[in-house]
Amino acid sequence: MRPIVTGDGSPTLVSERYREAYHPREGARAQAEALFVRLPEVAGRDEVRIVEVGFGLGLNFLASLEAVRSRGGLLFFIGLEPEPVPPEVLAEVLARCRLAPDVHEPLLSAWEQGRDFVVGGEGFVLELRFAPIEATRLPPNWADAVYYDPFSPRANPAAWALANLARARDGLRPGGVLVSYAVTGWVRRNLEALGFSVERVPGALGKRQWLRARRIS
Ligand SMILES: C[S@@+](CC[C@H](N)C(=O)[O-])C[C@H]1O[C@@H](n2cnc3c(N)ncnc32)[C@H](O)[C@@H]1O
Repeated sequence: MRPIVTGDGSPTLVSERYREAYHPREGARAQAEALFVRLPEVAGRDEVRIVEVGFGLGLNFLASLEAVRSRGGLLFFIGLEPEPVPPEVLAEVLARCRLAPDVHEPLLSAWEQGRDFVVGGEGFVLELRFAPIEATRLPPNWADAVYYDPFSPRANPAAWALANLARARDGLRPGGVLVSYAVTGWVRRNLEALGFSVERVPGALGKRQWLRARRIS
């Protein structure tokens, strides 16, 4: 597994198991910023609570942290990752990534231990659970936003099953938002069945539309 460089110079990987890249080839950092970090629920708050389903290489976390730090805020982030990349691969990715460089070393040393961890530093607390959404109970009504990023519904349909989306919903505060690049019809119908208000918003980086689903109650 070797990092590849995406269109904006930031790194990603291609998963052999899912036969899909971790980020769009057009730009890994660009997607993190445009799809996730620019959300009003993230960009507009001093204290932000985020859950990510599919922590992957941590790029969405690092981009979120940079944004929250730039306004002197505080980020609480829970990442779920059932198939962590080997530490040497993560190290190679981070070495090519310019986001929040002071966090790379503490993140790597915790990652190397191979078990769940909590690390904190300037402007953040990160809790990493090496578990899939299927096996996780999130703190109820907790997050302002869920980044739902476990590969596409085509490549990894099980991760998008109703029961898993329900787990993510339960971790969101009412009014909080679940966001994804995937707008697949059956995923939208699952979300609607769970009481989300589902919206397709203009996409970018190879995707015509992205998805935002707000927890109504
Ligand atoms: C597209 S990558 C995520 C990229 C990541 N968000 C980043 O910023 O670098 C998808 C990740 O989801 C993880 N994943 C797959 N199935 C999952 C599940 N059921 N629950 C949580 N994560 C899952 C994969 O192991 C992989 O690391």
